[in-house]
Amino acid sequence: MAMIYVLNGPNLNLLGKRQPDIYGHDTLEDVERLCREVAGPAGHEIKLFQSNWEGQIVDWIHEAREAAAGIVINPAALTHTSVAVLDALNAFEGPVIEIHISNVHKRESFRHHSYVSLRADGVIAGCGIEGYALATKRVCTLLG
Ligand code: DQA
Repeated sequence: MAMIYVLNGPNLNLLGKRQPDIYGHDTLEDVERLCREVAGPAGHEIKLFQSNWEGQIVDWIHEAREAAAGIVINPAALTHTSVAVLDALNAFEGPVIEIHISNVHKRESFRHHSYVSLRADGVIAGCGIEGYALATKRVCTLLG
């Protein structure tokens, strides 16, 4: 039994309420349920986190070094700005899958670049919250 951290960056606490045309009506509780439904049968556990603070995301990645075997991360806007999140992930040794609810490549050009992708073992974008299930499944596969 391994622990998978599911990390969520700024504004994702408003999932289901903010820009539903882009991000849909499902909430982070729905995301948590989805991830658990995938990880459970594979014999793994998930813990879901969300913060609007970059440093808090960095601290949880550091914590994951001891506490988790894999990471699913939607860094939200930090995807496009944060060398700190990239550096923290580079200090984590297990599988990392980056997920975006929307298809960032169909959107503004500033969303096309991801610092996190320099570390991620896989990237999922544009599959809605189902992307979290796919990302969790992939982490389970990589954990073996
Ligand atoms: C997002 C895409 C980012 O560009 C944006 O800043 C977000 C959410 C997504 O899940 O589609 O907050 O990561």
